[in-house]
Amino acid sequence: MKKGLFITFEGGEACGKSTQIKLLKDYIASRPDKEDFVFIREPGGTKLGENIRELLLNYEEDSPTPKSELLLFLASRAQLFEKVILPALNEGKTVIADRFFDSTVAYQGFARNILNADEILDLHKIILGNFKPDLTFYLKISPEEAFKRKAVFPTLDRMEKENMDFHQKVFEGYNYLSKIDDKRYVVLDATLPINIIHEMIINKIKEKLK
Ligand SMILES: Nc1ncnc2c1ncn2[C@@H]1O[C@H](COP(=O)(O)OP(=O)(O)OP(=O)(O)O)[C@@H](O)[C@H]1O
Ligand SMILES: [Mg+2]
Repeated sequence: MKKGLFITFEGGEACGKSTQIKLLKDYIASRPDKEDFVFIREPGGTKLGENIRELLLNYEEDSPTPKSELLLFLASRAQLFEKVILPALNEGKTVIADRFFDSTVAYQGFARNILNADEILDLHKIILGNFKPDLTFYLKISPEEAFKRKAVFPTLDRMEKENMDFHQKVFEGYNYLSKIDDKRYVVLDATLPINIIHEMIINKIKEKLK
């Protein structure tokens, strides 16, 4: 049975997930129990998953239809869940993920409107049963604010090239999820300074690990 803690980071483009995860990694590296933490990213995190990630984000020749996109995300997630996440949790490790199924609800559910949120959550039962993260850090920022940060980026991937309406729906998706699942959700104001957000995250994780 699962013993470890599963923590996810969620939010739209450029909300600061990777920035915070990097700082968290540095903090964890200073802990004597650093071996008990595993970091993963989605899509990806396994050999198969990293190949699927390339297909999802950068494959221009025959870009996936919305339904193929949804199922590719789920294929990557199934591989990661069975091969990495569950074994690590069963060993009592803490697993920290850059995105998980909430991203699919927000992007493929709310923004692409392929299925509604409940249908997407139901689809995940094939892979996850009733499994959920113990803690989800939602870095909340409007897409307008977040994209001011992107202005300095030289290249954008396929998701990032979607229009503002798309990203607004992603934002609404996360806001919905944070309301229906408020026990596991920790909503953080992603416009705060990076180090302040980092402190909040560390304090919450320490509290959960006790
Ligand atoms: N709290 C913050 N205040 C101001 N700028 C920030 C903050 N957090 C991150 N940034 C900047 O915003 C940009 C995007 O951050 P980051 O790559 O961490 O976002 P992300 O959520 O991982 O994005 P993606 O969804 O594209 O992976 C970076 O240039 C980063 O330095
Ligand atoms: Mg990132």
